[in-house]
Amino acid sequence: MSTNPPQDRIIIFDTTLRDGEQSPGATLNVDEKLTIARQLARLGVDVIEAGFPFASPGDFEAVQKIAAQVGSPDGPSICGLARATQQDIKAAAEALKPAAKPRIHTFIATSDIHLQYKLKKTRPEVLAIAEEMVAYAKSFVDDIEFSPEDAGRSEPEFLYQVLERAIAAGATTINIPDTVGYTTPAEFGALIRGIKENVPNIDKAIISVHGHNDLGLAVANFLEAVKNGARQLECTINGIGERAGNAALEELVMGLHVRRRYFNPFLGRPQDSEAPLTNIDTRQIYKTSRLVSNLTGMLVQPNKAIVGANAFAHESGIHQDGVLKNKLTYEIMDAQSIGLTDNQIVLGKHSGRNAFRTRLRELGFDLADQDLNRAFVRFKELADKKKDISDRDLEAIVNDEIQQAPELFRLELVQVSCGSNARPTATVTLRTPDGEELTDAAIGTGPVDAVYKAINRVVEVPNQLVEFSVQSVTAGIDAIGEVTIRLKHEDRLFSGHAANTDIIVASAQAYLNALNRLCAALQQGASLHPQRGAGLTSTDPAIAQSRI
Ligand code: KIV
Ligand code: ZN
Repeated sequence: MSTNPPQDRIIIFDTTLRDGEQSPGATLNVDEKLTIARQLARLGVDVIEAGFPFASPGDFEAVQKIAAQVGSPDGPSICGLARATQQDIKAAAEALKPAAKPRIHTFIATSDIHLQYKLKKTRPEVLAIAEEMVAYAKSFVDDIEFSPEDAGRSEPEFLYQVLERAIAAGATTINIPDTVGYTTPAEFGALIRGIKENVPNIDKAIISVHGHNDLGLAVANFLEAVKNGARQLECTINGIGERAGNAALEELVMGLHVRRRYFNPFLGRPQDSEAPLTNIDTRQIYKTSRLVSNLTGMLVQPNKAIVGANAFAHESGIHQDGVLKNKLTYEIMDAQSIGLTDNQIVLGKHSGRNAFRTRLRELGFDLADQDLNRAFVRFKELADKKKDISDRDLEAIVNDEIQQAPELFRLELVQVSCGSNARPTATVTLRTPDGEELTDAAIGTGPVDAVYKAINRVVEVPNQLVEFSVQSVTAGIDAIGEVTIRLKHEDRLFSGHAANTDIIVASAQAYLNALNRLCAALQQGASLHPQRGAGLTSTDPAIAQSRI
C-alpha cells in the first residue's frame, strides 16, 4: 500500500458466512449463502468473508458465486480464507477471480501452545512461512489480510516480529485474533497498543481484530481495541460462530453509533461529530438478523442486545410510565434505527399482488418473479386464516420461501389425531427424490412426536432430535408459528425452520427441512474445518489441481 490507510472510520468485516457458519448445525447451502451475502451488501458491510475455498467444493462454489454476484466495484470486498499453504491460497485466489475487490485472508498460529501441539513447528519456521505465504498471496491479489492465530495467547515480542515480516511481505491488513476468547478488555486493548507502538511498519497496514465470546467479552474487547488503534472489526450477525460465537456485528455497530461522541476522539474526530463511524445502514440490522436466524436455524435469545425480542420491550410499570412521558427516560436508542417498524397492520385478504410487492420492496425484499409468485400464494393462504397481516408476518413468509434447503423429500400431506382420550397418531405422505409418493403412519407421545416418527418411517435416516422450538411471529390466536429444530446424525447437527399458522404443519416442514439437509450432506460428504486441519474432501477440479 503506497498511502497510509485512513484512521478515522471503522471497517466492518463480516464473517457470518465463514466463522459464523462454523456454529454447530448452522450449515448453509450455496443459495442460502448468496441470499445472506446480498443482504450483507445491503446492510453496508465493507468486507464479506464468504468462506474457505479449499475446504470443500461447496465452499469454493459459494465464494466464487458471491464474488461474481455480490462483489461489484461499488459493493463490498469479497474475502476468502486460506491457511498459510500454497494449495489453500491458490484455491482462494481462483474462487475470488470474479470479484471486483478480492481479498485473500491467510493465517498461521503464533502461540507456543499451537506451535508445539498443533503445528509442531519452531518460531523461526512460522516466521518464514508467514512471510513466504503472504508474498505468495500477494502474487494473486493486492489486498492481503494476515492473521496470527491465537494472538491473544502469543508472546508479544514474537507477535511483533511476525507482523512486521507479514506487512513487509505485502499484508495490507493485520488481524489480531483472540481465537479462544481468553483475553479481558484491558489486556486486549494493551495488546493492540503494544502492536501499534512496537511494529515498525504498522502504519502501512490496518489493524483488525477478531475474537470469540467464550467469556462473553468479545464486543467489550473490540471496543477497547478501537480506542487503542484497531480500525477493522471482524464480526458476525447475531454473534453466531464457533463455540460461544464471535463478536456480534449489531452490538458493535450500535455501540459505536449510540456512543459516537465517546468514541469520536479516539478516531481523531471532533467529539460532537455526528458523522457515522461505520458504513452500516443500521435500519437493515433487524432484517439481517431475522434472515440469518431463519436460514441457519440459530435462534436469537429474547434478551439478546439490539435484536432480541425483548430488546425494546418495557415490562415494568415504572419503565412504561417513564417511556410514555418521555422515551429518553429508559431508551438509549430508537427501535426504528435498527429497522423495527411500528407499522403493525399492513395488508389483508383483499390486497393485490401490487400492494404485496410494493410492501415487500419497502421492507427491502426484491424478489424475482417466481419467488414473488410463491410468496404471494403463501400470503393469500395466510390472509384466509389471519385477518391482519403485519410486516413480521410478511418477513416470516418470505424468509420461509427463500430458504434454499434441497427439497429431496417433500411434504404432501400431514394429518394428526390427538386429544385427552386419544393416542396421538399421525399420517404423512411424502414425495421421495424419485418422485414416488409414500404414505406411512405412527403413534407418538404427542402429535409432533407422532408426525416425526411417521416421517422417519419413510425417510429411514437415523437421527436424534436435539432441539425443538415454536415461537409465534406476532401476538394473537391466529399468529404464524415459527418452528426451529435441530437434529443430530452421528456427530453432526442439522437445523430446519418453517413457518405456518398450523404448528403441526410447520413442525413437519421444519423436520423435513433438516432431514433434507442431512440427506444432501450424506450425498456430498463432509467438509474441512479451517482450524482443525482435517483431511481434504475436495473433488472440484480447480481445487484438486491446486493440491500439487
Ligand atoms: O478465531 C480465529 O483465530 C480465526 C482465524 C482464522 C482468524 O477464525
Ligand atoms: Zn474465529
